[in-house]
Amino acid sequence: MITAMNSTIPLSLKIDQVIEGIANQGYVVIEDFFSLDVIAALRQEARQLHLAGAMQRAATGKENMAKLDAAVRGDLIHWLGNTEPSAVQQDFFTCMEQLREALNRHLYLGLFELENHFAIYPPGAIYRKHLDQFRGNEERQVSCILYLNEDWKAEDGGALRIYLEGTDSPPAIDVMPHSGTLVVFLSAKFWHEVLPARRERISLTGWFRKRSDSLP
Ligand code: OGA
Ligand code: MN
Repeated sequence: MITAMNSTIPLSLKIDQVIEGIANQGYVVIEDFFSLDVIAALRQEARQLHLAGAMQRAATGKENMAKLDAAVRGDLIHWLGNTEPSAVQQDFFTCMEQLREALNRHLYLGLFELENHFAIYPPGAIYRKHLDQFRGNEERQVSCILYLNEDWKAEDGGALRIYLEGTDSPPAIDVMPHSGTLVVFLSAKFWHEVLPARRERISLTGWFRKRSDSLP
């Protein structure tokens, strides 16, 4: 089984899989990029933040234009990086830093920073079809979504639907938010949406960014 094998594959080979996927098709889905204990500890953190009331309704749009609209986006988020990182966050950042360096080395993406938030979608919540780059701001170059849901079943729903041809129409693939699955894609290119789930759906989402002054 891929899942069982993948957990014994060294990080450098999994990073190679990401590079190859991005280079060839602009997106990639990898199972077990992180170890099970890292995933479990991240899930625990997200749950605790939620219980502590430290997650906020996510807005769409930017700063003064930001809107809260559950018909567009119904998740709760918590940005990482405002407090000292926990041990598991440090492990996560160390792996993502290796990924960032590899993306720069092989694909010349000029990524300099990662921004991350936990996201919890209550049952029924969606995120309508969108691109991750804000209009007029191309800093977000590569989107990375790590799912933290134990025993996710097909009937739970909640797929990430990724449209493959640079438009907001099919063909599309559906990625189920299984624990340990990491999805990486070029932020400028892929329209995507989160379909409603029957149960709470937890993820850790991040974007590798380019400096705005290095953009053309
Ligand atoms: C996002 C997003 C997808 C997912 O946060 O921008 O598209 O599967 N998330 O959680
Ligand atoms: Mn998105």
